Amino acid sequence: MLKKIAISQVETGMYIDSVEGSWLNHSLWKARFVVNDAETLARVRQCGGSECWIDTSKGSDLPESATVIELVPPKPTAAAAPPRPADRRSMADELQNAANVLKHSKAAMTSLFAEARMGNAVNTSECQPLVNEIVQSVDRNSDALLSLCRLKIADEYTYMHSVSVCALMVSLGRQLGLDDAMCRDAGLAGLLHDLGKAKMPQDIINKPGKLTDDEFTIIKSHPVKGHEMLLESGVDNDRVLDVCRHHHERVDGRGYPDKLDEASISLIARMSAVCDVYDAVTSNRPYKAGWDPAEAIAQMASWKGHFDSVVLQTFVKTIGIYPVGSLVRMASGKLGVVVEQNTRLTAPKIKIFFSTKSGLPLEPKLVDLTDPHVTDKIVGREPVENWNFGYLNDLWAKHVP
Ligand code: C2E
Ligand code: SIN
Ligand code: FE
Repeated sequence: MLKKIAISQVETGMYIDSVEGSWLNHSLWKARFVVNDAETLARVRQCGGSECWIDTSKGSDLPESATVIELVPPKPTAAAAPPRPADRRSMADELQNAANVLKHSKAAMTSLFAEARMGNAVNTSECQPLVNEIVQSVDRNSDALLSLCRLKIADEYTYMHSVSVCALMVSLGRQLGLDDAMCRDAGLAGLLHDLGKAKMPQDIINKPGKLTDDEFTIIKSHPVKGHEMLLESGVDNDRVLDVCRHHHERVDGRGYPDKLDEASISLIARMSAVCDVYDAVTSNRPYKAGWDPAEAIAQMASWKGHFDSVVLQTFVKTIGIYPVGSLVRMASGKLGVVVEQNTRLTAPKIKIFFSTKSGLPLEPKLVDLTDPHVTDKIVGREPVENWNFGYLNDLWAKHVP
């Protein structure tokens, strides 16, 4: 059982699952550990977070009289860490295959949305093989497909957004330890979550500027519209229907269309809210250029009331604090682009390519920050808008055909 407690209530013997509060900045990124001595306890107490989640199935519990802030029932499967698929690959080895998956997906989703727009039933049996391909690619190396998905151009946003959300849902499902069937449902749900947009006026969807209140009211009907379209097409998968209708609900009850309160939003719908917004804000859309991935994570973590915090933290464990493609500043004053994640989220592989001291580009150099010989480290994300680098994506995506 996961329990949220105050940091001041932590005692030795407890198993810390994750820390809340200013968790993006504090030093406990090795979250998930037993507080096994006084020194660790002191570190936890001083970590800068205010609350944390303990797992009472893996460590000691609070005294019975103590106040629990929040409870999460046991996860559907008790897997502590997602199983490592046998055929895991490096990002470079998976990029070519991921590019092929993306090509099939784009064709399939373009025709699915075209059919839907013409009022034809959507044939979701055609989506299943696509979900299978995406699951396989994500299991080999999730960064490859996820990073390519982010490079979509504004014109193809609606179709490619579906594929991105599918891949993000599968990765997040794996990280949450959900079973295989649920991960596949999560993927299928991601693929179909915005189907209702096919029936929205396309001049509103593609409007280059901000929507008027009336236009936004119309757009806000897309979850209900999509839900109806799925039912008319004979889709009876409850998880897919749930995500389509509820991916814009918020834990503070201010979402739409049903203004569900926190307890009424299912886990899979909470997952979809995070995956949807992350992909939306990091993509170039007709009305807005995409944010840097690390900036998106930092922003989303600062919003109050939108997301389920455990789901968001797990999401960050999936894609990193500095996701692939993020611009980062090193202690040495050099700039780099993240090219691959490591298990330690603050120490990815990066390509160093610029010196802020000289103001000149450097010969790009791959550096693995987990290498004990490397002394430089990331001090933070670097605002992309301060620079005029037109070639950041080339630095990690050199295998893209
Ligand atoms: P979308 O572009 O796929 O965005 C999905 C969700 O991501 C948004 O849901 C919102 O929660 C989040 N999001 C996207 N961009 C931003 C941003 O710049 N800042 C913040 N804080 N959150 C962002 P939302 O707001 O319910 O919008 C639903 C859909 O309505 C959007 O899907 C998009 O198709 C359309 N839309 C929303 N605002 C605009 C706009 O200003 N112009 C145009 N043309 N369309 C818009
Ligand atoms: C949100 O929580 O949906 C948006 C908050 C913000 O833009 O600051
Ligand atoms: Fe939507």
